[in-house]
Amino acid sequence: MSHRILLLPGDGIGPEIVAQGRRVLEALRDNHGLDCELDTAPIGGAGYDAAGQPLPEETLAKAQAADAVLLGAVGGPRYDELPREVRPERGLLAIRAELGLFGNLRPAMLYPQLADASALRPEVVAGLDLLIVRELTGGIYFGEPRGVRELPSGERQGYDTEVYSESEIERIARLAFAAAERRQGRLCSVDKANVLESSGLWREVVERVAADYPQIELSHMYVDNAAMQLVRAPKQFDVIVTGNMFGDILSDCAAQLTGSIGMLPSASLDERGKGLYEPVHGSAPDIAGQDKANPLATILSVAMLLRYSLGKSEHAERVERAVGQVLEEGLRTADLQGGSRVVGTVEMGEAVVGRL
Ligand code: NAI
Ligand code: MG
Repeated sequence: MSHRILLLPGDGIGPEIVAQGRRVLEALRDNHGLDCELDTAPIGGAGYDAAGQPLPEETLAKAQAADAVLLGAVGGPRYDELPREVRPERGLLAIRAELGLFGNLRPAMLYPQLADASALRPEVVAGLDLLIVRELTGGIYFGEPRGVRELPSGERQGYDTEVYSESEIERIARLAFAAAERRQGRLCSVDKANVLESSGLWREVVERVAADYPQIELSHMYVDNAAMQLVRAPKQFDVIVTGNMFGDILSDCAAQLTGSIGMLPSASLDERGKGLYEPVHGSAPDIAGQDKANPLATILSVAMLLRYSLGKSEHAERVERAVGQVLEEGLRTADLQGGSRVVGTVEMGEAVVGRL
């Protein structure tokens, strides 16, 4: 069966980097038996320009019909004056919500060739390869009740609610166990069970799901300790699973361990395995249209798309190996240190395709 992949280039460097992701997919299709159909649609500022909305109806319909979506980035100074409801960022929030993407996968991988880019000592981070699985549609960011109320004293009080139902915990736990199965088989569940009731339930449900994955080594860690361990000895982790807010903070922390925003992919998955894949970085208006953007975060997002939505692990590994090889050969975009030759977006994409 042919896989339908929708490309959403977006704004700024988005079209430049997605063009390189497309090239990788086309090469896999033409030379390595990947059966896929590619389509493109506007989102973000490009959606606004084309249809007056950051998520045009036709774009959403195409995304709903696709097996996987590859997104570049949205936003830029041209759109900063627009009313909030048609801002480019709204398009991204809307598509995530419409597609029911509850599981956010953020790998932090550091190719050994780039270990110098980290703020941490190379021996602490060289070869780092961890995956944070963050629950994306529940927890305190969405919990009710929330608001600002006035106390009898006249003082105002702000409040939010951390809520997780068993089914929400179970589905993110299953996603994380399945991811650990494909990796080194170790899962660390991060919570604050010493203080929060919701974390007590979280831990109980994760333990229950663990019975279905006897081959996975499960551990639990409090979030404050997890933050400390991430910067002290990050290589101890394989997969981390956690709730929305803890995951928000820990995934940005883990991203910085690598020191190179142009290298980090991400995935957001629904219950059927359909997903939206995108680089962690934004639309980088400062370098847009100059052939300077690093396309590797997008190309590594393509690898995740192949692995998690299409079930094509071999193709995914082929892409990841090709990226490792171009770095080994000394090719670097301007955002990366070291290497022996600075190349542009297009040449980097061509080099990866050449090593597939
Ligand atoms: P940014 O990630 O776009 O840029 C931060 C810095 O990193 C810039 O100096 C940029 O040149 C550099 N950079 C980012 N990606 C790069 C790449 N692939 N290769 C080389 N250098 C790269 O974040 P910033 O500047 O805060 O936001 C710019 C615009 O992007 C804003 O409109 C913001 O709203 C939007 N944005 C969109 C996101 C998305 O679509 N998921 C995420 C973050 C920001
Ligand atoms: Mg964040």
